[in-house]
Amino acid sequence: MFQSLQALPADPILGLSAAFKADSNPRKVDLGIGVYKDEKGKTPVMKAVKQAEEMILKSQTTKSYVGPTGATDYNETIARLVLGDSLLDRLGKRRITVQTPGGCGGLRLAAEFIGKANPGATVWVSDPTWANHKPLLGSAGLSFNSYPYYDYESNSVNFVGLLETLQQVPKDDLVLLHGCCHNPSGADLSSEQWKAVRDTALQRGFTVFIDLAYQGMGRGLEEDVFGVRMLAESLPELIVVSSCSKNFGLYRERTGAVTLICDSHKSCATASTILAAAARANYSMPPDHGAAIVQLIMNTPMLHQIWNEELTVIRDRINRLRSIFAQRLKDAGIDQDFSFIEKEKGMFSFLGISANQINTLIEKYSIYLVDSSRINIASINDTNIDYLVSSLTEVLSRK
Ligand code: LMR
Repeated sequence: MFQSLQALPADPILGLSAAFKADSNPRKVDLGIGVYKDEKGKTPVMKAVKQAEEMILKSQTTKSYVGPTGATDYNETIARLVLGDSLLDRLGKRRITVQTPGGCGGLRLAAEFIGKANPGATVWVSDPTWANHKPLLGSAGLSFNSYPYYDYESNSVNFVGLLETLQQVPKDDLVLLHGCCHNPSGADLSSEQWKAVRDTALQRGFTVFIDLAYQGMGRGLEEDVFGVRMLAESLPELIVVSSCSKNFGLYRERTGAVTLICDSHKSCATASTILAAAARANYSMPPDHGAAIVQLIMNTPMLHQIWNEELTVIRDRINRLRSIFAQRLKDAGIDQDFSFIEKEKGMFSFLGISANQINTLIEKYSIYLVDSSRINIASINDTNIDYLVSSLTEVLSRK
């Protein structure tokens, strides 16, 4: 039976990591996968996480199952992190949160849920969007359409195009937005633009679905959820998938959640049975370790403070690197204007270079980046920046 199978191409992001690992060039630079790296190029375990793990190791008394919807206290903690205390209280039983195996598990669970509410639903995704959105949601049977998002000429959000398209979205469709730190472009919506999206959603009646993978990595923990909270406050229904991979550095622990806002307590009660059944049918229940860490950090003032400080260091470093990199490219005398990099948020920006130039960077210079020209800003450091800037200068001068 297995002989009939055809091999699939490597994943556009994970395949790059494998190629990078196999490259023996000592000057190689990995600007591919979206993983935070410190000045030494390492992705360390956060101190708050280490301390929480030690406490869990000492105090945990059972490894018994947690159940398909995960740990109730973790779910409440995540809802507070995403929505904030006062909104959470106002939403009351119109909101449910379910623990998931990472943000990807959350997206998949949300897709299963959407498929039950509206079989074959169409999800409108930003053009461009994260390379795994369509495979992940599509494998649960959802269809896609897209709205314009990034304008490669002005290096900013094409908001006119976005809004014109959203004004045509049918009532039963969904619109997938990135909560902050848009992946892959780094270009986020302004407060005014979020308001216009909200008004359009209210007017058209489509359902908004938010992927929130980078809370705290852009402007700040509160600032990064401005749009999410505004929509949660005003829309009758909302789906938010959040991840602790980046802001807690818990990548491999697979720690995430789906939060639903429903039009009534009753719909929420029904929705939670659908989510529980979908989790059970897919993976039975989420892994516990990462969620237990997050729960402990968020509810132990000393750990919370350490975590918040560490996250601030990460965010400030990314934003500082953005300014330094843009300035260094300017100083190198490259024709192209890269000043937009400084304004964008989160780990990613597009270099806006051609497929040939990307290939040359990979093949000749061992500088790995995604084929859309997306780079991970957090991979830049004092050791590789000269090499990066000089290689880019050479490649760009060739056209
Ligand atoms: C990325 O976009 O690089 C990250 O979200 C990691 C991944 O799974 O693709």
